[in-house]
Amino acid sequence: MNTGFNHIVWKNNTLYLLDQRKLPLHEEMVECKTVEAVIEAIKCMVVRGAPAIGIVAAYAAVISVNSYLDESESNREIEWREAIATDLDQIEQARPTAVNLMWAVNEMRQLLISVEAKDACNRAHELAVKIHREDIESNTRMAEMACELFADSEGAAFSVITHCNTGSLATGGYGTALGVIRKAWERKLIDQVYADETRPWLQGARLTAWELQRDGVPVTLNADGAAAWLMAEKNIRWAIVGADRITANGDVANKIGTYALAIQARYHGVKFMVVAPSSTIDMQLASGKDIEIEMRTEHELTQFTGHRVAPEGIDVINPVFDVTPATLIDAIVTDKGVVLNPDENSMAALFGESEQD
Ligand code: MRU
Repeated sequence: MNTGFNHIVWKNNTLYLLDQRKLPLHEEMVECKTVEAVIEAIKCMVVRGAPAIGIVAAYAAVISVNSYLDESESNREIEWREAIATDLDQIEQARPTAVNLMWAVNEMRQLLISVEAKDACNRAHELAVKIHREDIESNTRMAEMACELFADSEGAAFSVITHCNTGSLATGGYGTALGVIRKAWERKLIDQVYADETRPWLQGARLTAWELQRDGVPVTLNADGAAAWLMAEKNIRWAIVGADRITANGDVANKIGTYALAIQARYHGVKFMVVAPSSTIDMQLASGKDIEIEMRTEHELTQFTGHRVAPEGIDVINPVFDVTPATLIDAIVTDKGVVLNPDENSMAALFGESEQD
């Protein structure tokens, strides 16, 4: 299925990003010609979603390489490897929780260790395009695998609930959890999608609702707090979400509210699926307790569309991710295969060192 828009475009050595802060009301591209501009776009959420920020980080590395090596032979006299390494360190720090960002920067670091100056621009560009293309391919593969898990629905279409935005906008294209939902709708396995609005940034209301409506997938927007009621009242069989980081024991960091959704799902006998490419797996971290959770500005809570809604001087806490323990997860679907009832053994079986090479 063609989702009908390109939100990450590389043209004439410039990166163009669809401004996700402005959707669904305005479709505007932001031009990024410098590494600093890309870092700022990631920080202020022009682009967001774990795989998408990994891809954009890779293009930021291309901008860096081009800026030190593109011009003339004389530029090659400078310590270009060190200059680029400094840029890569900055890019990696744009946001802390989604490991795809660090993964993509590391892929670039590996390339730049051995590449010759004369080949660096082309090779970096090739690698960024490959990371982008492979992310889309992995999404379609994961959608196929996930649909097989719906086989026990005995032919009757059911409803699903999702959280945040995990669609084309959050990835190279198509989507992780939303890719599964797209494919399941195409195959008439599901008949209704409930989209959590996803407080406080409203990724569900702004982005998931927009993407699914464009594709003609029946989507109903709900307040996050309505999820338990929906599970009790509606024919919801699966909660399907993405991930920003999955640790060696199968714990999953994802948008704040995912943990609550998983607890509600378990209580109501709704199955819980996490869909993420292998660039989201972090086998270096033993458990979700080790994941750094991003804290964002209090304005996301004290203001609504630019208007103050909370009293002046109120204390605010705004963690924008949480960790769902592996014990609440029925399936983690990755491009390398499906991990049922994840724990450190089942994760190691698919992502242990020898298996990853
Ligand atoms: O703060 P965001 O919008 O970048 O958070 C995004 C999420 O939490 C997504 O669910 C996650 O990145 C998976 S996207 C395929």
